[in-house]
Amino acid sequence: MRLDKFISHATGLSRSESRRAIKSAAVQVNGELERSAQRELSDLDRVTLRDELLTLPSPRYLMLNKPAGYVSATTDSENPTVIDLLEGVREVEKAQLSVAGRLDKDTTGLVLLSSDGQWIHRVTSPRHEHFKVYIAGLAEAVSDDDVRAFAEGIQLKGETRPTRPARLDVVAERTAEVSVVEGRYHQVRRMFAARGNHVVSLHRREIGPIILDPALAPGDYRDLTAEEVSSFS
Ligand code: URA
Repeated sequence: MRLDKFISHATGLSRSESRRAIKSAAVQVNGELERSAQRELSDLDRVTLRDELLTLPSPRYLMLNKPAGYVSATTDSENPTVIDLLEGVREVEKAQLSVAGRLDKDTTGLVLLSSDGQWIHRVTSPRHEHFKVYIAGLAEAVSDDDVRAFAEGIQLKGETRPTRPARLDVVAERTAEVSVVEGRYHQVRRMFAARGNHVVSLHRREIGPIILDPALAPGDYRDLTAEEVSSFS
């Protein structure tokens, strides 16, 4: 990793602030002054800023119960984001987090976040085919034809190929559990719209092997357990 990036990750300084610190002769690598922001570091290099040893924060893995009204982006000029809910997470760590599989602003439930880019990729890559399970509140009851259509794949408006087979289970008269492997834009809402139905509420309960912890109230989060993290390896 480049020296300016390392300092930025370790301290929360911006890249340009990190470069300024390097230029001002405040940074040493292995006890020697380093003035090149582009210096590539190995795992063994010891970096100090004003004589303080810098270390990268260990990767963070979180699950959040997203309430409605929050966007899944890490920054947004108009709406509060899921990152705004992470009270108690240091700013330097928040800056490193990415969201694994976004939810619409009005959708509630399980959101996974991590600073480990490879892990995020394993969670979201279509190649790994992790089922996402949603509970949908609907305007109309689900028919047997709907169940068959979801299982065969639904042709969404404006798209060239139908969705991958999805599972639709009736939970109550106007409530269904939907399991999809893809993550197309507004996918579940559009699948029901294609069947002439309307999603009134949508809640994600599961992503692959991880189930939303029922102890988390809307807006609450917790670190994933080691088992939950490794369940995606
Ligand atoms: N499908 C949707 O339509 N919305 C979501 O937020 C997630 C899946």
